[in-house]
Amino acid sequence: MDTHLAKIQTARAIAPGIYDFTLSAPQLAKEARPGQFVHIRLPGHTLRRPISICSASAAEGTVRLVFAVRGEGTRALAAMGREETLDLLGPLGNSFDPESILSKCGSCRPEAGSACGDGAVCDPELARNKFASVHPEAGSACGDGDVCAPEKSRSADGRVMLVGGGIGVPPMLFLAQALHGDCIAVLGFRSAESAILAEEFRALGCDTRIATEDGSLGEKGFVTDCFPQSGISAIAACGPVPMLRAVASYAKARAIPCAVSLEARMACGVGACLGCACSLLREDGTAYYGHVCKDGPVFDAARVAWEGAQA
Ligand SMILES: Cc1cc2nc3c(=O)[nH]c(=O)nc-3n(C[C@H](O)[C@H](O)[C@H](O)COP(=O)(O)OP(=O)(O)OC[C@H]3O[C@@H](n4cnc5c(N)ncnc54)[C@H](O)[C@@H]3O)c2cc1C
Ligand code: FES
Repeated sequence: MDTHLAKIQTARAIAPGIYDFTLSAPQLAKEARPGQFVHIRLPGHTLRRPISICSASAAEGTVRLVFAVRGEGTRALAAMGREETLDLLGPLGNSFDPESILSKCGSCRPEAGSACGDGAVCDPELARNKFASVHPEAGSACGDGDVCAPEKSRSADGRVMLVGGGIGVPPMLFLAQALHGDCIAVLGFRSAESAILAEEFRALGCDTRIATEDGSLGEKGFVTDCFPQSGISAIAACGPVPMLRAVASYAKARAIPCAVSLEARMACGVGACLGCACSLLREDGTAYYGHVCKDGPVFDAARVAWEGAQA
């Protein structure tokens, strides 16, 4: 995590009140992972504003941010234009892990203590908390005696489903790119007017389904109305809390691993001010406070105390 001075290469509105910026930031582009965010300093504002990385191209040295105008800070950001320079801190936070979402060890439950493909010892508990952070080599022996075969497990266990709601859609595009479009993308918006990025998911090859609250595009209703009843092996989601809660409940009912990206009001963005508390659950069900900026923003949906989550 570093400070970067990033020049705005392109800046355009893609829907009413929603802006799409491409920034020149070679080091950030190299380091960024899907789910991570940058903390942006804005002239005249003491506190930085957190915005997810919508995509990054190490080859082009660019990072893309898509954001909605909510208050003073995002209004000031939207007023900036080409050739202006942004002061960014990042990449911050943890990330969705595309490799383990697709790999056998992302969904199987190896015996604790068994040797994994990368020579590390499998720790299912750790793997589950971190949404399966163990990365065995394809073809290596796994804890359950099986041979790791990401391709095989993908077709055998079902498909990965990405769920984005409103301004929660941008970080899911970065994850869809990392998955090379091999996923179902379910995107929810208020109306056709606020629908963003859907064509880019389609262009990647994602099976893309859209729900709008007023029925002006795709299915009328919520993202959950577009969910398949079966055939899903893992879920990653970002959006408003009521949507994430519904996604978590769908995943729990079907025992599908599910990672969610949470939002919280942030100040420092690096775990120093304790301003972005979120209520989490230990394995024994007792609650404790974690911090979205430091421990997240990506969490195992089964470890979020949804009753206490801010809507
Ligand atoms: C990890 C993370 C990723 C995000 N990614 C995106 C994104 O990709 N696109 C996007 O449009 N928005 C995103 N947001 C929300 C975005 O940070 C807020 O909309 C923005 O900070 C609002 O600032 P403001 O000055 O316009 O609003 P104001 O209400 O004037 O903000 C006042 C203060 O509250 C904080 N704040 C207000 N709302 C939020 C919020 N929802 N989350 C965090 N802090 C808030 C601001 O940072 C500021 O310190 C993300 C938030 C988080 C936590
Ligand atoms: S914003 Fe300061 S601890 Fe998270």
